[in-house]
Amino acid sequence: MLNIALFGPPGAGKGTQSPMLVARYGLFCISTGDLLRTEMRNGTDLGLAAKDVIAKGGLVPDEIIVQILEKTISENPQANGFLFDGFPRTWVQAYILEGLLLKMHTSLMALISLEVPDRVCTERLLGRAVNSGRIDDKHEVIEVRLREYNEKTAPVLGFYAERGIHKAVDGLGTVDEIFDRVTNVIDLTLESVQMNVVLLGGPGSGRGTQAQRLAAKHNLTILSAGDLLQEEIRRGSPVGQQVFAQMEEGSLVPDEVVIRLVEERIKSNKGRNGFIFKGFPRTLVQAYILDGLLRKAGSQVNCVLDLRVPTIELVRRLSARGRHYDLATATIFQRLHAYEHYENALSSYYGNSGRLHVIDGVGSLDEVFLRMSKPIDEAFRLAR
Ligand code: AP5
Ligand code: MG
Repeated sequence: MLNIALFGPPGAGKGTQSPMLVARYGLFCISTGDLLRTEMRNGTDLGLAAKDVIAKGGLVPDEIIVQILEKTISENPQANGFLFDGFPRTWVQAYILEGLLLKMHTSLMALISLEVPDRVCTERLLGRAVNSGRIDDKHEVIEVRLREYNEKTAPVLGFYAERGIHKAVDGLGTVDEIFDRVTNVIDLTLESVQMNVVLLGGPGSGRGTQAQRLAAKHNLTILSAGDLLQEEIRRGSPVGQQVFAQMEEGSLVPDEVVIRLVEERIKSNKGRNGFIFKGFPRTLVQAYILDGLLRKAGSQVNCVLDLRVPTIELVRRLSARGRHYDLATATIFQRLHAYEHYENALSSYYGNSGRLHVIDGVGSLDEVFLRMSKPIDEAFRLAR
């Protein structure tokens, strides 16, 4: 979900740029100034309460702002993303925005501030006064609005600078020039958004085959703990030798070993949209660890697909494949047992956060692929 806030002093050009951005990115615009003016026109209690403050150029109380925002956001649950114009304007409103977006399992991607000196803002607003009909487009009120901005609103930039999502844009120039600068910032932000998918499913459920097709379609890197371990074994590294013995027994490799390999691989990802995790996490502890590793890298698990295939079918597929560690029936059962033991814990971990999609793994490769691809598309839509 692409959520952007457009920031800047009165007259910076927020209201001029916002309809253009809405058209380009299919966003839903929330301008608290426009919402307040609608309330005033309709003579509602909220409008009456705000009118005096606006006429004097002050800031409307946060309580009123929360009420109009909650109403607008809850009436538009299907929005692709929101463009906030003139909000947040105080430190308190910055926290309010965090809370509102968290409730929708999303967050603000960038706060773009249009940098325009007060003198130019005043000239522009006096120009607009000719036919805007706005009660606050008067010289003495503009002065108060600019003062309010500099004292109460400008400090909010610190909140977003700390989070690393404040982007300053030069607000001088033609409307089209500024639009180009703003869209450049948004496009770069979109490119940097990582998408991570976790594939769950028993050994033999078809994760490997599907992971390759999904990775190609969504430009993701497959991160398979099994492949990382096999790689170590092939290289004959000390880790590989230790791992080989454990795999022969059909038991799980210790967390420390897997984590180190996974972390190195996450760090080395370049030019891809994110990862498909396969065979990791395998335990509840590893699920927590993965969330921690991704958070450290500034991203998260967006979507979890649990590929379900009946046990009897898994046994049939594994025996038919005949890899060296699949040859003994006892080993197959050991692996299935280890998997089933952890599956419940993992699916409730991810189910609780609304990221889990249970996929029927029986059917042709294409059928299963389509079932898996759909929730990834949806997660992409939400993430971007
Ligand atoms: P609001 O409606 O948000 O007004 P504002 O902050 O004073 O900002 P403006 O809408 O005047 O400026 P803008 O940046 O949108 O510029 P615009 O594109 O129109 O808020 C009004 C009042 O409501 C506030 O004072 C407050 O009381 C209250 N309020 C609202 N939100 C609140 C909140 N969250 N918390 C508390 N109180 C709140 O451009 C201005 C002019 O410049 C136009 O004529 C335009 O054509 C021209 N222009 C634009 N770009 C250019 C350019 N590149 N070159 C030349 N001219 C340009
Ligand atoms: Mg405006």
